[in-house]
Amino acid sequence: MKFSLVAVLAAAANTAFAFPGFDAAKQCFDFTHGEHKFVAPGPGDLRGVCPGLNSMANHGYIPHNGIATYQQLVNASTDLFGTDTDISHLLAAYGVSLSGSGDVDHMSIGGPPGDRAPITEELLRPVFGLSSTHNNFESDASPMRGDLYEKYLSPQKHHHQINLLTNHRNSNGIPDGKVNYSLPILAEMRAERMNQSIANNKDVFFSPFSGTIVQTAAHSFIFQLFANRTEKSPEGILDRKTLKTAYAMETPGHERLPDYWCKRGENLNIAQFNIDNLPTFKKYPDLLHKVVGGNEGAVNTFKSVNLAQLTNGTFPNFEFLLQDNNYACLGLFQAVYHAPLFLEKMYANITKANGLISEQVPLFAYLNCPKVAPFGDELFKQYPGWNRSFTWDEWKT
Ligand SMILES: *[C@@H]1O[C@H](CO)[C@@H](O)[C@H](O)[C@H]1NC(C)=O
Ligand SMILES: *[C@@H]1O[C@H](CO)[C@@H](O)[C@H](O)[C@H]1NC(C)=O
Ligand SMILES: *[C@@H]1O[C@H](CO)[C@@H](O)[C@H](O)[C@H]1NC(C)=O
Ligand SMILES: *[C@@H]1O[C@H](CO)[C@@H](O)[C@H](O)[C@H]1NC(C)=O
Ligand SMILES: *[C@@H]1O[C@H](CO)[C@@H](O)[C@H](O)[C@H]1NC(C)=O
Ligand SMILES: *[C@@H]1O[C@H](CO)[C@@H](O)[C@H](O)[C@H]1NC(C)=O
Ligand SMILES: *[C@@H]1O[C@H](CO)[C@@H](O)[C@H](O)[C@H]1NC(C)=O
Repeated sequence: MKFSLVAVLAAAANTAFAFPGFDAAKQCFDFTHGEHKFVAPGPGDLRGVCPGLNSMANHGYIPHNGIATYQQLVNASTDLFGTDTDISHLLAAYGVSLSGSGDVDHMSIGGPPGDRAPITEELLRPVFGLSSTHNNFESDASPMRGDLYEKYLSPQKHHHQINLLTNHRNSNGIPDGKVNYSLPILAEMRAERMNQSIANNKDVFFSPFSGTIVQTAAHSFIFQLFANRTEKSPEGILDRKTLKTAYAMETPGHERLPDYWCKRGENLNIAQFNIDNLPTFKKYPDLLHKVVGGNEGAVNTFKSVNLAQLTNGTFPNFEFLLQDNNYACLGLFQAVYHAPLFLEKMYANITKANGLISEQVPLFAYLNCPKVAPFGDELFKQYPGWNRSFTWDEWKT
C-alpha cells in the first residue's frame, strides 16, 4: 500500500528540484488501512526474538501465525525492508534450515509450529523454530535481548536491552522526532553490549558467523532497515518514536512500522553491510579482536580464536578482516561450511537442508572472498558456549 499523496507531491517536486535517492512512490507505505495494516498477534500466533520478522507477520507480509515459507521470507524482507538478493536469500535459507523445518520450506519465527507446518523430513529433536538457533543463527550481545545463558535475562522473557539505546547518553535530551540513532551510535552500543556480555555471561561465544554477521547486523540493520527516509534525508533518519515502534517497547510481539513510513531507496547488500561496519573498529579497536572468540567458562575470561590457525594462514590476523569484504567473507564461509554440524543434530538426512544453504553460495561470488582452507571446530571446543549451542533443552522453558 503506497501512500499516494506523498507520491504525487514528490512527483511534482521532482520536476522543480531533485531529491536524489528518494522515490516516495517506491519507498513509502501507508499502513493505516488495507492488507498491510498492523494486526496484533492473537493467541496461538507465533512471534520470536527478531523485530523484523515479527513486524512482517504483524503487517501481513508473511502469514499472521508466524509460520512462513522460504519464498515468503525472501519476498517479505525485500518488499518491506529493502534487503538485496544476497541478504534476503542468506537469511531465509539459513533460517529455514537451522530452525529445524519439517519440510525444509516452512519456518517458525519463534516457538514450536506444532501441526501447522508440514513434516516430510525425519526430525531428530523437537522443533522450536528460530528460538532454538542460539550461536548458529542467533547470537549473544544482541541490542534487543539478554544473552540466553544469563538466565535472568532470558530472550523468551523479551527483556529489552534496547532501553539502553533509547536512553543512551548520545540521545538524552534530544526530542523524540529529532534524535537520529545513526550507525556510529549503534556501533558504540554494540561495543558496550559486547563488554556487558563478557562481564556477565560466563559462556558468551562468537563463531565467525555469529560474530561478523549476526551480532554485527543486529546493530547496523537497526538503522539500515528501520530508519525512515524523507526528501530531506534520503539516507534516512531513525528517531526515537520509530525505534520504539519497531521494537515494540510497550508490548513485546507487537513490533510494527509507523503508520507512514518510507523504507531505504537502494536495496541493502552484503558489500554495503561490510562498508557500514568497518568504521566501528577504528573507534573501538578492541572490538575487532572480540568478533571471534568467547569466555572460557567464567566471566571476563574472553579469549580470541587464533584466526591464522583457524584458517591455515589465509586470514593471518584480525586486521586482515578490515581489507576488502573479508569481514563478511569469514562469517559467510563458516556459515556454509559448518552448517552440517548443526543440521546433523536435527535432521536424519541433512541433504535437503544443507542443499538449501549451499545453493546460495553463488550469490556471494561478487564479494571476491579469499579462498579459505576448510576448517574444523577444534579451536572452538575450548569454549563452553560453542558446545552449548548443540543442545536444545535450555529452550524448552
Ligand atoms: C515473490 O515475488 C515474486 C516476484 O515479485 C512473485 O513472482 C512470487 O509469486 C512471490 N512469491 C511469494 C510466495 O510471495
Ligand atoms: C542519520 O544517521 C545516518 C546513518 O549513520 C546518516 O547517514 C544520516 O545522514 C543521519 N541523518 C541525519 C538527518 O542526520
Ligand atoms: C570495552 O572493554 C575494553 C577493556 O576490555 C575497553 O578497552 C573498551 O574501552 C570498552 N569499550 C567500551 C565501549 O566501553
Ligand atoms: C517518514 O517520512 C515521510 C516522508 O518521507 C513522512 O511523511 C512520515 O511522516 C515519516 N514517518 C515518521 C514516523 O516520521
Ligand atoms: C537423503 O536425501 C536425499 C534427497 O534429499 C536422497 O537423495 C538421499 O538418498 C538420502 N540419503 C539417505 C541415506 O537416505
Ligand atoms: C595449510 O597450509 C599449508 C602451507 O601453506 C599447506 O601445505 C596445506 O596444504 C594447507 N592445508 C589445507 C587443509 O589447505
Ligand atoms: C566441548 O566438547 C568437547 C567434545 O566434543 C570436549 O572435548 C570439550 O572439553 C568441551 N569443551 C568444554 C569447554 O567443555
